[in-house]
Order: sequence, then C-alpha cells, then structure tokens
Amino acid sequence: MRVSDIPGDFDHVLYTEEQVASRIREVASQIDADYAGREILMVGVLNGAVMTMADLCRAMTSHMSMDWMAVSSYGAGTKSSGVVRILKDLTKDIDGRDILIVEDIIDTGLTLSYLVQNLRSRNPNSIEIMAMFRKPEAVTCPLDVKYVGFDIPNEFVVGYGLDYADRYRNLTDVATLAPHVYQS
Ligand code: XMP
Ligand code: MG
Repeated sequence: MRVSDIPGDFDHVLYTEEQVASRIREVASQIDADYAGREILMVGVLNGAVMTMADLCRAMTSHMSMDWMAVSSYGAGTKSSGVVRILKDLTKDIDGRDILIVEDIIDTGLTLSYLVQNLRSRNPNSIEIMAMFRKPEAVTCPLDVKYVGFDIPNEFVVGYGLDYADRYRNLTDVATLAPHVYQS
C-alpha cells in the first residue's frame, strides 16, 4: 500500500518506497564490505523490523542466518521505560557468533540498550546494530549504532514495518499520520 492509496490518512511523506529501497541497497553493500569472509547471524526485532530484514537480507551477498526476538517495554504509554520483557527469545545459540541486530527505529534507545546488554551476556564474538530509522533528538540512552538507514525528526512515523495501533505496517512509504487518525 502506498500513501496515494489512502492520502487522507497521512500528513506528510518522509521517504518514498523508492528512497527506502535505494538506501537499503547502500547499507547492504556497506555491511557486505565490513563482514567480508564472515558469516552473520541477523537478529530481527519483531514485528517492526520485518520489512527491513526482508529487504536488507535480499540486497546482501554475505553468508547469513536469521533469528528473531520479540520484546515489549514495561509500563504504560508510548514512551519506553527501559525495562524490557522478552516475549520471544532467539532459537539459536549465539556463542562465538557475529550478531547484527536489525531494528525498525531507535527512539530513546532504551529498548536496544537492554537488548545489547542481554545478548552480550551470551558471549557472541561481536554485536552490531542496523536501525532503519533513528530520532537523534529523542535519544536518551546513547548507543553505538553502526548502520542507520535515515536519521529523522522527532515525530511519530508509520510505514515500512512501523505501526500505529498495529496498522500501517504494510505502507511501503514512510509518513506521518493526519491528526484525525489519532483522534478516532
Ligand atoms: P526506544 O525508545 O526504546 O523505542 O528506542 C523503540 C521502539 O519504540 C517504537 N517507536 C515507534 N514506532 N513509529 C512507530 O511506529 C515511531 O515513530 C516510533 N518511535 C518509536 C518502536 O516499536 C521501536 O522499536
Ligand atoms: Mg519495534
């Protein structure tokens, strides 16, 4: 689904499907170059990172395997508390592996800080992060993020895996919502 299919739901487009695809190809080549000769274990964070993972993997030439985690932030509201509950853990042992965490978006950075700390305790050879979007103005928990798709303003965005109330993940462009969507 594109923004033009239901234009009334959106305020403005940050990135089109084409811009996202082109940036994914750039990041994929960078990762391939950095990991030359190594096998990567890509760890996707459900559900938001599904689109990024699917496109990034297919644009890469490195040997890789894939695993998934699902986490949820404790506490009410839209802001994460930094206390993270694991809803679905990895199925693979990561001891000695080169891990690349694939995340949809970094807001405060609290979720990923917890995740990195948790995975580090399992003794991998290395851990790096690829985040499709990052909000530099919102970061309270500085993280070493090796690969970023786009740095964006501190506003709520949907599309390319990102949702509002579980909707709009299938939007191929990335956009902000029109105010009436929040009000209904
Ligand atoms: P923290 O603050 O821990 O939060 O970095 C990261 C998680 O918050 C969600 N998030 C968003 N989801 N549009 C969304 O659809 C946004 O603009 C947005 N900002 C943060 C997301 O689940 C992410 O994993
Ligand atoms: Mg998420």
